[in-house]
Amino acid sequence: MRNWEDPVAQFTSGGPALAAVPMPVEDTPSRTSLGPAVTPAEPLPDVAGAGGATGLEAIEMGAARIRVDDKRIINCRADLNQLVPFKYEWAWQKYLDGCANHWMPQEINMTADIALWKDSNGLTEDERMVVKRNLGFFSTADSLVANNLVLAVYRHITNPECRQYLLRQAFEEALHTHAYQYCVESLALDEGEVYNMYRELPVVARKAEWALPYTRSLGDPDFHTGTPQADRRLLRDLIAFYVIFEGIFFYVGFVQILSMGRRNKLTGVAEQFQYILRDESMHMNFGIDVINQIKIENPQLWNDAFRDEIATMIREAVSLETQYAYDTMPRGILGLNAPMFEEYLQFIANRRCAQIGLAEQYSGATNPFPWMSEILDLKKEKNFFETRVTEYQTGGVLSWD
Ligand SMILES: [Fe+2]
Ligand SMILES: [Fe+2]
Repeated sequence: MRNWEDPVAQFTSGGPALAAVPMPVEDTPSRTSLGPAVTPAEPLPDVAGAGGATGLEAIEMGAARIRVDDKRIINCRADLNQLVPFKYEWAWQKYLDGCANHWMPQEINMTADIALWKDSNGLTEDERMVVKRNLGFFSTADSLVANNLVLAVYRHITNPECRQYLLRQAFEEALHTHAYQYCVESLALDEGEVYNMYRELPVVARKAEWALPYTRSLGDPDFHTGTPQADRRLLRDLIAFYVIFEGIFFYVGFVQILSMGRRNKLTGVAEQFQYILRDESMHMNFGIDVINQIKIENPQLWNDAFRDEIATMIREAVSLETQYAYDTMPRGILGLNAPMFEEYLQFIANRRCAQIGLAEQYSGATNPFPWMSEILDLKKEKNFFETRVTEYQTGGVLSWD
């Protein structure tokens, strides 16, 4: 079984092959994600604008049947209400894998966590701060991800098997928001404090503030794909959310909380985070497959200027998340310290870059937390926190690539 910590050369997910991505052929430099939405010069007279179909167009009786070759990830006009014939088997497989991995937050026993949290000697103040700040960040972050999916991304992805996965992912994001609420309620935390952290605590707010511009433009009803600028904007948003928000901004918190579980502290909270991490790994890998497929189908988008822009975004994100590590862990906890997280973030950023075809940004970065790989390996998870999730697996063995 593989996961994303394996060398990139080992990836054989059935998703788009990086090697097949053609080199860029032209460019319209654009770094306008914060600017106004781009309106196509000559909008076409259908409800989807100049981009692809929505699935809500009038039914055309007697129209030609859909062929696999008609399908495209963006700007496709083939009927979106017909799931098959499949073109992107990797998207359908990830939908099946997500369903096989189903879990519910309230099935996890929180009794020991409640007792530990109430015990004044159970946790240090620094440990309590880490828990509260992560619940503060994640409790709103997953709602932001879900809103981005449903209100911004979904209508621009013009492929039914990818949309099928997006619908599954949207439900999983709802479960994650539920899981964080369940942790907050179980520990009887101050809900006002936790849910307002992303507006009141700069270290939490900065990450959401960084992400919001990337979803706002796509959510603009006047935004349509179909021009290089607009298609690049969509690609930029997909990278911002799938590669950076879910692929970098979640990882200091995941390591911190899972480290507690490894030391037998707050094992219920840690177990919730373990399941969420596994879902998030799948989300990120789906997003990377979509990004790479868009690049294959639209090679002109992936030019030098755009690659530089994305590399800059990733470096900014690593810097923000590193600051989050230092702010949440001023003195270190559980044998962890902020410099270890700085190294880890550089390591995972290199992996994210390699997966979307960018050069590594941090030469020689290594992984100080190799045990994170094991958490993503379902075969080992039963021994990790004595979990129950394997009982749900009716769909065969999961593949984390
Ligand atoms: Fe999530
Ligand atoms: Fe997610």
